[in-house]
Amino acid sequence: MTNPNTAVSWVGNADAGHLRLIDQTLLPVELQFLDCTTVEIVWEAIKSLRVRGAPAIGVAAAYGVIVGCQTERDSDPARFETRLRYVIDYLAGSRPTAVNLFWALDRMQKTAAANANLAPPALLDRLLVEARKIEDEDREMCLAIGQHGLPLVKDCAGILTHCNTGGLATAGDGTALAVIFAAARLNPQVQIYADETRPLLQGARLTAWELMQRNVPVTLICDSMAGWVMKEGRVQAVIVGADRIAANGDSANKIGTYSLSMLAKAHGIPFYVAAPSSTFDLSIEHGGQIPIEERISTEITHGFGRQTAPDGCRTYNPAFDVAPATHITALITEKGVIQPVTTANIRSMLGEAV
Ligand code: MRU
Repeated sequence: MTNPNTAVSWVGNADAGHLRLIDQTLLPVELQFLDCTTVEIVWEAIKSLRVRGAPAIGVAAAYGVIVGCQTERDSDPARFETRLRYVIDYLAGSRPTAVNLFWALDRMQKTAAANANLAPPALLDRLLVEARKIEDEDREMCLAIGQHGLPLVKDCAGILTHCNTGGLATAGDGTALAVIFAAARLNPQVQIYADETRPLLQGARLTAWELMQRNVPVTLICDSMAGWVMKEGRVQAVIVGADRIAANGDSANKIGTYSLSMLAKAHGIPFYVAAPSSTFDLSIEHGGQIPIEERISTEITHGFGRQTAPDGCRTYNPAFDVAPATHITALITEKGVIQPVTTANIRSMLGEAV
């Protein structure tokens, strides 16, 4: 299997089917699938980043609801509803920052509420239809993001990206990587610089792998090299994804994104954030309100099994940071490009009242 576009999929019917994931923790050395047959396996897969990337987490959680509710398929509607509520709350506790998780679970909850008249087996079928819709819509959004973003980067000789925002992180071609794939189709010589993305190396393990699978020229750099790469004039744009975008455009993304946005500003290089509307959280005004996940210290001190810091060394390991709207040249969504990044422009593009 060389097509990363099957990072998250459903196998079988609603009654006895299951969620199938590429176990991203094993890449790039091993390409292995994980069959998630219980909601506990789904929760652990999200928590441990076997499936990761904001849109992919949302799709996985939607399918996770089906897996979790299969146990009550033959129960009465009241027990089914209690189980559904438990499963949704449980999955919502897996990771805090990517709003796509909560957005997808909310859709599943609303679908169940709107079909409360159905008996559990029929409701399970209906929930699977909704989860498939979430997956299909995400694929469509990726396509549209690629098309809308292309004019912004089509003349770049080099583009810098961070973390992984491609087929592994979504149901389609990706967000920032969808724009990069579109640019590479137009100009196969375009040079992509991928930050390795400490501490979990999503850039090295996943982005470099995906780009190489698709013959896009990629050069891997350590995160600390990004400023120098800009100074040397190697990149004309930076493009990243997002896990949650506040109403004013402040964008949470993988740790290191804030520094990149500062560096891009200092070098006069456009800094783009590409994300579907499911990544916007218009209920919060600014990035200071975005919950930032903090992860265990061993990701820093014992990365990939080898001790690299003294015993007992104190660490701080936020998994995300927030690029302020003032550093973002444009937001690229499936509905179009938001530039300049203001609350009014965001609300008008997303079709929400200001
Ligand atoms: O911790 P991760 O690997 O889930 O973090 C992922 C990112 O930060 C991505 O850049 C973001 O989710 C956008 S994915 C299209």
